[in-house]
Parts: sequence; C-alpha cells; structure tokens
Amino acid sequence: MKLLDKIGREFSGYNILESGKRLLDRKPLQCSLYVTDRCNLDCAYCTEYDNSRPHPSLDDLKKWIRKIRELGTMRIALVGGEPLVHPNIVELVRYCRELGFATSLTTNGFLLTRKLIAELEDAGLQVMQISVDRMTPSPITKKSFKTILPKLDYFRDSKISLHITGVICADTLPESQAVLETGLSRGIPTEVRLVHADPLNRFRVDRGSRDELERFIDSMIERKRRGEKIHTSEAILNYQRSLLQDEHVEWTCMAGYKLFFVSAQGKFWICSMVHTDKHIMDVTLDDLYANYRKKSCQKGCGVYCAVSASLLVEKPAQVLGKEIIARAKRIPSTMRHSLTPNTDKATHGTVTNPDGAREMNGGTKGSPSADDGVTLRQGV
Ligand SMILES: C[S@@+](CC[C@H](N)C(=O)[O-])C[C@H]1O[C@@H](n2cnc3c(N)ncnc32)[C@H](O)[C@@H]1O
Ligand code: SF4
Ligand code: SF4
Repeated sequence: MKLLDKIGREFSGYNILESGKRLLDRKPLQCSLYVTDRCNLDCAYCTEYDNSRPHPSLDDLKKWIRKIRELGTMRIALVGGEPLVHPNIVELVRYCRELGFATSLTTNGFLLTRKLIAELEDAGLQVMQISVDRMTPSPITKKSFKTILPKLDYFRDSKISLHITGVICADTLPESQAVLETGLSRGIPTEVRLVHADPLNRFRVDRGSRDELERFIDSMIERKRRGEKIHTSEAILNYQRSLLQDEHVEWTCMAGYKLFFVSAQGKFWICSMVHTDKHIMDVTLDDLYANYRKKSCQKGCGVYCAVSASLLVEKPAQVLGKEIIARAKRIPSTMRHSLTPNTDKATHGTVTNPDGAREMNGGTKGSPSADDGVTLRQGV
C-alpha cells in the first residue's frame, strides 16, 4: 500500500463527515447484531454465548438487517457468540455492504483461514476485530497469540482493517503487556481493556490487583499520547482509570438510541448487558429516542463501545480532537514502517514468533474500532 494511502487510513477511521451526520440528527450511529448465540469457545468471563440455541436463519437475519438500515443506522458490527460459526457469514457481510452499511466483524479468530479472509474481503468487510487475551491459552481463556500469530500473515495484502482487542483480568494481566507489544510491534492497532461484570453486575472472574491495573492503564494513556496505535480513545482509557478508582464520571448513556444491539432472536437490546423483549421489527425512531437518558446502570458500566459512542456524541470536539492529534503523531512511525524493508520489520517483535506475521497492510490502516466509523458506500 502506498505511503499516502497509509497516512490517509490513519484518519479514515473516524470518518468524521459521515459520523458527523449522526451527531446532529436523531438517527442511530451503530448496531451490534448477534448473528448467532453459538460459540466454539467458552471464555470464563463471557455471558454472551449459548450453544443450546440454533443459528437464526439467513432470511430472518436479512429481514432484521433491512429494518436496522431503515432506522438510518450507519454501521453494523456483526458479533455473537462467534460470528464465524454461522454458515452464511460471508453472505451476511455482502448483504450489509449492499445495503450501504459500514461493516465490521468481531471474532475469536479460531476459524479464520486464508480463504475465508479473502471471501470476507471480497464480500466487502471493512473492519475485523480479533480478540486475543493472552500469549498462551489458559483455563480462563483460550484466545491467545499461540493460535492467532500464524494467521496474521493472511492479512498482509488484505483491504480489511485489522485490530486486536484483549480482556484484562487477573488471569491475563501478567501477559497483557506482551499482548499489547505483540500487536503494536507488528503495526496492528491493539487495545486491552478491563473485564466487565455480567448483566447482574457480578464479575465472573477475578479482576486483578487494582494497583497493577492502574499502572497498566496509565502506561497505555502515556503511549496513546505518544502516538502509538493503542486502539481506543484517551477518553476511554481515562474512563477505565476512573472505574478502578471508583470515581464518578459525568456522562449520559446513549445505548438504545445512538447505538443498540439486536439479539440472535431478533430482540431489541439496549446494550449487551441490558435486554428488552421488544422485537427489532417493532422498533421506531421514537422508541430509540426514548432511550436518550441517564440510566441507573451507568455506574461501573463496562460496555466500552456504548461509553465511547456516548462520549463522542456528548463531547465530539474534545474526543475527536484528541484522537486526531494522536493519529497525526502516528505518521512518522507509519512512514518508518513503510520505508523499512520487510526483513528488518521482523526485529520489531518482542516475543518469539517463528511463524508469525510482521507488519501487514491490514495492520497499518488506523482501523476503526467498534466505536469508530468506516466509510459508507452510500448515504443514509
Ligand atoms: C462476546 S465476544 C463475541 C465475538 C467473539 N466471539 C470474540 O470473542 O471476539 C465480543 C467481545 O466481548 C469481549 N468480552 C466478552 N465478555 C467480556 C467481559 N466480561 N468483559 C470484557 N470483555 C468481554 C470478548 O473478549 C470479545 O472481544
Ligand atoms: S469466544 Fe467470544 S462469544 Fe465465545 S465465549 Fe469467548 S468471548 Fe464469549
Ligand atoms: S449504562 Fe452501560 S450497561 Fe447501562 S444501558 Fe448504558 S451501556 Fe448498557
């Protein structure tokens, strides 16, 4: 990819003009659609999978996707369960793109093959998040670089913007730094974030030592300010710091309004943790707008995509301004990576990686996270 294209991609993530429309009107910015409840893994902290349920049919999913678009939603995040276990995932991506959605997919990556990545790219997938918690699997989480490193090479010439996201808890904390370094050293925007509680506000795993967590979050804030590709905003890093210190944060949750979730049964969910029984097919823009209010569950909320979208809508200049500066600071390193021959880039790695990827096209794109925007094919 040409250097100018790479620099352009550093700024395309926030897609300021397109997102701007949704900062000014009453329509939703983003929907996360559970394409299935089923999952091939069983992470101990997770409450978002259920293998007793069948996959929703392709026809039902398409009907819900059309409705989500009719509401004016600009971006769709395909989630689960594990979205790649749905037999029609490529067709679903293609359909979302045909309707003009900016489309992302979040996966544990275990089922990724070179062929599947090419098919998803051909279908128009713009952003992929691979979740990686550790360097090696543990009884708490099997999502580790041991499985994912060999697959990173498949993204070398891919147009899909890849980023990596990990969960920090007591089990993963000793390896979180290495996870971050492994992603960043390969030019992949990477983020690790604090484990959140379940819908009943219980933590399913030990969260880890508060002091250590604070030090780690602080180090990420510093690195973000230096322009490293930490794949979250400074606002969300500061928010996590406040969570650890039990500090009050002033914000209004926009979940159920600017962003919402649709379950694998087609139910309208305010967010991943707050569910309703209303069917998405019955939801109106007025229903969405009614959720523009402070919520009793805001204290300690760990649905970071919702916090992020809410802060963006509430304080666009502040949040976007800092992000634009952080991305501008990435340009020298983007240029360095671009001008460095591939053989040298292997030395950027900080962990032993005999077969793994080095710098990849997919990793240098300043890719948008679930809370960023990506370019739309057509306006809504
Ligand atoms: C529910 S998963 C679905 C997609 C896919 N199965 C995966 O793991 O990437 C979506 C994201 O939520 C994260 N997640 C699940 N439970 C969490 C929790 N209790 N705290 C923080 N993140 C969590 C996962 O690690 C993953 O990055
Ligand atoms: S892979 Fe994703 S959906 Fe499956 S258990 Fe882990 S976090 Fe949950
Ligand atoms: S505050 Fe958090 S948990 Fe409550 S509705 Fe908003 S995003 Fe969901």
